[in-house]
Amino acid sequence: MQCFSNVSLKPFNTFGIDISAKELIKVSKQDDLAEILVSEYQAGRMPLIIGGGSNVLFTRDVDGMVILNQLRGIEKIKEDKDHIWVKVGAGEVWHEFVLWCIDHNLAGVENMSLIPGSVGAAPMQNIGAYGVELKSVFSSLEAIERASGKTHKFDNPTCEFGYRSSIFKTHAKNQFVITSVTFKLNKQPFFNTSYGAIEQELESSGIRELSIKAVSDAVIRIRQSKLPDPEEIGNAGSFFKNPVITNAAYKELKAIHSTIPGYPASKGYTKVAAGWLIDQAGWKGRTLGNYGVHKRQALVLVNYGGATGKQVFDLSTDILTDIHQKFGIELEREVNII
Ligand code: FAD
Ligand code: EPU
Repeated sequence: MQCFSNVSLKPFNTFGIDISAKELIKVSKQDDLAEILVSEYQAGRMPLIIGGGSNVLFTRDVDGMVILNQLRGIEKIKEDKDHIWVKVGAGEVWHEFVLWCIDHNLAGVENMSLIPGSVGAAPMQNIGAYGVELKSVFSSLEAIERASGKTHKFDNPTCEFGYRSSIFKTHAKNQFVITSVTFKLNKQPFFNTSYGAIEQELESSGIRELSIKAVSDAVIRIRQSKLPDPEEIGNAGSFFKNPVITNAAYKELKAIHSTIPGYPASKGYTKVAAGWLIDQAGWKGRTLGNYGVHKRQALVLVNYGGATGKQVFDLSTDILTDIHQKFGIELEREVNII
């Protein structure tokens, strides 16, 4: 365990916002984590947990403790004819885990290659990309209850996964800290290449025989062509969720805006591309000094260096208001505002 006082969190958030925390603790042992959480809880405090800091926007200094989750370990725990169950420490880097799966010829997470962040944060918003969500490979997780320090196990239904959502973002918010996630991976791949540009990408790179690695590489290339690399430009991926509206509301919008992209969601609902709405409203590439809307992906807000979280947050509010005025749709932020 390492403790630091009055430290800048700039290296610990992909937006690159330079704010400070009164205390930063790097924790690599589960018992240490439980002890800290309980003593803080009893003192009426709620330390902020950070993995890769790739889905947060800091708008103020943190006048308390930030815990950097560094619980490591990847362990095969059981297998049957078709599957292997792998338990992964919450502090493992998500993409490194994906690469580990590819190395071990285990399928299921390849479409989610190159998503930044930690394994422990992945269930928080049921991460997803290119037609696959975490819930499709999720078996269970372990989490420490802040109030008691006890470890609880959550299976797939208990996590209440939805689009960019789970119980940990709704009615169990701030109650638990995830310490490990167990995945049920496939020995035989079921390739999912129908989404977006994957097939086109495989074809243009001359791939004739599909493999887990080929799909992963294609996803990586597509992502690198669309999304800014946080090492170069501060960002947290999609700033807003794609709004889900009724089929009737979508039909009305489509009658006015014939090119509006929509995808089937749950029965009677359509998911609309927020990037398209923001793009059409004229925000794409708009720059206000050292921050703005990314030039290739309107759903991504960026910090070119030195912006404050408040500036980025205010920009997001202006976009929300404008989209509501122009399309009658209420966008919801995906990024966690702190
Ligand atoms: P953090 O930002 O550290 O934390 C996110 C939230 O989870 C915070 O509220 C934090 O307090 C909480 N938290 C973190 N760890 C724990 C824990 N162990 N227990 C309890 N709470 C915890 N997301 C997608 O779904 N799909 C994408 O395709 C995608 N692409 C992205 C591309 C880029 C370039 C970037 C920068 C981000 C992208 N994201 C995407 C968002 C982000 O990568 C994911 O949300 C990721 O899971 C966040 O992980 P993290 O460790 O960085 O979380
Ligand atoms: N579009 C535009 N203009 C833009 C951006 C997008 O017109 O500036 C249109 C595209 O042409 C396309 C549609 O919007 O028709 C969807 O765009 P894209 O395929 O890029 O996906 P997205 O909906 O913007 C979502 C996720 C991403 C995920 C990709 C791939 C959300 C909020 N975002 O983006 O996740 O990687 O699909 O599956 O669901 C994240 O959550 O941080 C994230 C990056």
